[in-house]
Amino acid sequence: MTREEAYKLMTQMLQSKNLQKHGLAVEAIMRELCKYLKLKNPELPLEEFDEEEWAIVGLLHDADYELVAKDLSKHTLVTEEKLRALGGASERLINGIKAHHEGVKTSRDNLMEKSVYAADELSGLITAVALVRPDKKLSSVTVDSVMKKFTQKGFAAGAHRGQILACEKELNIPLEEFVSIALKAMQGISDELDL
Ligand SMILES: [Fe+2]
Repeated sequence: MTREEAYKLMTQMLQSKNLQKHGLAVEAIMRELCKYLKLKNPELPLEEFDEEEWAIVGLLHDADYELVAKDLSKHTLVTEEKLRALGGASERLINGIKAHHEGVKTSRDNLMEKSVYAADELSGLITAVALVRPDKKLSSVTVDSVMKKFTQKGFAAGAHRGQILACEKELNIPLEEFVSIALKAMQGISDELDL
């Protein structure tokens, strides 16, 4: 499956522009994490770091969010069904999508799975921080401003801090560095994110 095919599928499955943008944000973060973790983990096999695969996992992780309506026990499984019907998606890719949702897949078995789990929530926090800036722009968001909001429990409470902290526990990336990687990734596609 190519990125182009994945993008087409995502926009077919999701009507909400915000959810589409969320997919794009997590895609951008996943690309940067793939490059970063590849350098940091030279002992791991190169096939673990297929950037296109990481990107597509980010792009499609929430693709069935509207289709499952409120039944989160089915979340990611409808996407899995569609991918299997289409063909061309690797098991690693399908598992990556499922791994961001603990209700379906409880274990995270490789760095890609751990990355999407943590990046998902951080992208939401960074978006929320941008939206409270006077200009509502990612360009005026700093790592410090995200770190401050991280510690304010009431701010963007839906962005689960424990899940973001998987960066330290599971990826061995200090929180501040993780924020920096993700912020730069999102700033790089600010036009597409309308932020
Ligand atoms: Fe998500």
